[in-house]
This record gives sequence, C-alpha cells and structure tokens, in this order.
Amino acid sequence: MRHIKIFDTTLRDGEQAPSCSMHLKEKIEIALALEKLKVDVMEAGFAASSQGDFESVKAIAEKIKDSSVASLARSVKNDIDLAYQAVKGGVDPRIHIFLATSPIHMQYKLKMTPDQVLDTVANMTRYTKKYLSNIEFSAEDATRSDWDFLVKVVTTAIENGATTINIPDTVGYTTPREMYDIITYLKNNVKNIDKATLSVHCHNDLGLAVANSLAAVEAGANQVECTVNGLGERAGNAALEEVVMAIATRKKLYGGQTRIETKEIYRTSNLVYKTLGLRAPINKAIVGENAFAHEAGIHQHGVLQNRETYEIMSPESIGLPSNNMVFGKHSGKHAIHARLKELGHEITKEEMTEFFVKFKNLADKKRRISDADLLALLDHQEDISAEKEYKLDRFTINSGNNITSTAVIRLNRDGQLIEKVAMGFGPVNAAFNAINKIIKKPEYTLEDYSVQSVTDGNDSLGEATVKIRCGDDIYTGTGLSTDIIEASIKAYLNGINKLL
Ligand code: KIV
Ligand code: ZN
Repeated sequence: MRHIKIFDTTLRDGEQAPSCSMHLKEKIEIALALEKLKVDVMEAGFAASSQGDFESVKAIAEKIKDSSVASLARSVKNDIDLAYQAVKGGVDPRIHIFLATSPIHMQYKLKMTPDQVLDTVANMTRYTKKYLSNIEFSAEDATRSDWDFLVKVVTTAIENGATTINIPDTVGYTTPREMYDIITYLKNNVKNIDKATLSVHCHNDLGLAVANSLAAVEAGANQVECTVNGLGERAGNAALEEVVMAIATRKKLYGGQTRIETKEIYRTSNLVYKTLGLRAPINKAIVGENAFAHEAGIHQHGVLQNRETYEIMSPESIGLPSNNMVFGKHSGKHAIHARLKELGHEITKEEMTEFFVKFKNLADKKRRISDADLLALLDHQEDISAEKEYKLDRFTINSGNNITSTAVIRLNRDGQLIEKVAMGFGPVNAAFNAINKIIKKPEYTLEDYSVQSVTDGNDSLGEATVKIRCGDDIYTGTGLSTDIIEASIKAYLNGINKLL
C-alpha cells in the first residue's frame, strides 16, 4: 500500500488564525505531541515572519527526532536564508517556499508577469538547493490558476530541485471533483512529476477542505497538509483527525495508509484545544463529545448486538477507552494510575504522587469522579507556566442581589503576601479588579472570559478560560475548581503569569 504523508501545519497555518497565537513553551509541547502522533512533517512556523517565530522553529527543529521539521518561506533569498538557519539543526529539515500563480494574485499582489513568476520559481528553488535537498514548493492559490500555467510552474520547480509539490486551495474555492481533475491533469501533463511527492493544502471556506483533500488522495496525491482540529486561516484547514481517520477507515478505497498513531489523536486534539482555551463542538467529527455517543433507542440496541451496526470506527482507535469508569474517595493510586495510562497518559511516580493529592482533594468535594474529571485534573497539573510569579494565597468574596460585590484577594509573590480589596459588577469582576490592583505593570486587558462545566451535575468541576491581551500578544489562562469563582481567579492568574 502506498504511504500517504501527513504534513501538519497547526503551528504555522493554525497559529496564524485570529486568537490562536501560541508561545514557545506551548508550541514545543504541541510539537512533541505531533511527534508522538507520528506526523511525517511538521511545519513549525514561518521563520522570517518574526524573531519569535524564528526562535520557535529553531527550538522545535532541534528537539524533534521522528518527524521532519519545516519552515515556510516566501520565494525571496532573505526568507530562505532565515528558514535554513532555523531548521538546519533538525534530523531531516525541510524548507517550504511558496509563490502565487493565479492571475489575480500575480497581477494585484505580486505585480509580476507569469514569466517573472516562472523565473522566480526557478531561481529560488535553485537557491534553496544550495542549503538542502528536502524542498517543498507551493503554488499559492493554485486552484484559481490556469492549469497549463500550473503545469509550467510545477515542471520548473521540480527541474530546479523541488522534491514536494504542493497544490493549495488557498481560498477554499475548489470542489472535490475539480480537485480530483486538477491533480489528474498535473499527473498526466507534468513530464517530471514522478520525481516529486504531490501534495494538497485545502482551506475550509466552503466546508470542503477534508473532502477536497481526500479527492486529491483518490487522484494520486501522496501528501496531505492539515491541522489538528482543522484550525487555520479564516474557516481553517483540513482537519488532520478527519483526513487520517477517513483514510484509515477506507484504506481499500484510497489504496494507501498514513503512519499516524491514531490512538494519539484524542490526546493531541485535547491538548491543542486546551492550549488555545477552546473546546470541540459537541458534534465535531472524530473528537467531539457526541462522536461516539448513541442516544436513540434503535441505535443503542443495534450497538449492543454488534457495535459495527452504527460505528464505523472504534473509540479506542482514536485513544478513547470505551468502558466508562467512575472513581471516588476510596479509589487507590494504582487503579487511577492504570486508568490514566488507558486514557493515553503515562505519568511518572513523582507526578502521580502530586496528582493523587489533587485527586483526593477533589474526591472530598465530589462523590463520583469520571474520566473527564481525571483528564481535567491532569491538564491543569501539566500547567506549563511552571515558574509562577504570583500564586493565589486566599480570597474572600461578598456578593448578593442587593449589594455591590466586593473581593479581597491575597497573592503570594516569592513569599511576600500582598492583599487588595476591590468592588465590581459581580464577584468575578470584583476579584479581577482586586488582582489588577496588585499587578499594575505591564498594562494588559481582559479580552475574553468563559466558564464551562467539565461534567454534568451541580458538583461538576468548572473550567474557566481567559484571554489576556498585552500589546499584540494574547495569553490564554485556564483554571479548574469545583468553585467557579476560584476557577476564574486561577485562570486570570494563570494568564497573567504566562504574560509575566
Ligand atoms: O493557503 C496557502 O496557500 C498556504 C501556502 C503558504 C501553502 O498556506
Ligand atoms: Zn494555508
């Protein structure tokens, strides 16, 4: 069976989307999860776009051993130089250069003639080759380009050293049948096409990104570019988990397979959502809460007789254990350690000791502890802002329907206790105002705030998420508690600590 490569661009195209920017530690954590997921290539960023991007591509390239790490670059020497400096420490570094080929992009954006575009493709691919041989060339807005011009561009890129040719549907305009025809046309008309891997990169403006990517695979493309949870510019990119599970479920139809460790899908998806302070819509394919739930009587009956009546893939195949287990305050450390392992999380003995304390605290407040609770506790244990500037020492809230809410907050900074009191429109607002009185610099503003329950029931853990803006940067903070005011305070401090 042919090998269909998965090129993940969560850290580049995904990160480019509004409110999806990430910081170095967050990117490294996701890169390590992508490596475990066994993506063939991960695009770690766009090295020339900022110093921060350069540093993160470099750090990721040096850390990752089982996937090729790529940097995006415009077809200009300076971008290519920086991309090389950033990826060169990797095991199989790739430079991904792009240039637009559609009439509208050439005329209005590039202000170049088709001949100038062809020359640039030749020169810049050759220029990249002086650094390395793993070169990807993308014909930006390929699906709105003239097919014969595309044939010339692709032929030129391969002649000059490109080993992967990517056909992006940059604006999410194409349809599955058209994508199938474009790929077929290129295969039939580019004389040196056998010397390169043919790839696609589809955006989701019409909700067709996954369908278009799969149509390209059917036509013979051997690489799909996608992002975890379908994040990306505007409506996003093709969702990795959907593309991968479609290929795995319909292997024969596609005549190929990926090397993705599908059992890592659920964990990776959760990590990406958590990092960005987002949650999967409940009906999201593959990773949504309802993706494997059967409510209707007829369906439940069928599944009990034979799961395959209504399930085309198993929850275990994406890393979700099927049997639901419930724990309580009498549960032992070993059983919980084993359950975490089943849920895809191997933690060390020391981490388990810390985790068990948190588990016991929760079990004192909540009778039945579910998988979702365990995962939420673990997410918050793995808080990556390890070196905390400010810790919550204690808080008191006074709130009611006929009084102004007040909050007294005491924070601990390096052993020094600082306490402030503030009023607010409600208890959370009062608490945040009190924290703002303690932390005056740098200036920051609250962009977004939400609280969600982790499980059903009024003893559920509440997970609060905040987005804090400081200049152009957004920091996501999360907090967990059975008390939603405490969860909110923790989330606010978590965001501020990341910022600091
Ligand atoms: O959508 C697009 O065209 C891109 C390219 C840079 C590959 O992201
Ligand atoms: Zn894109």
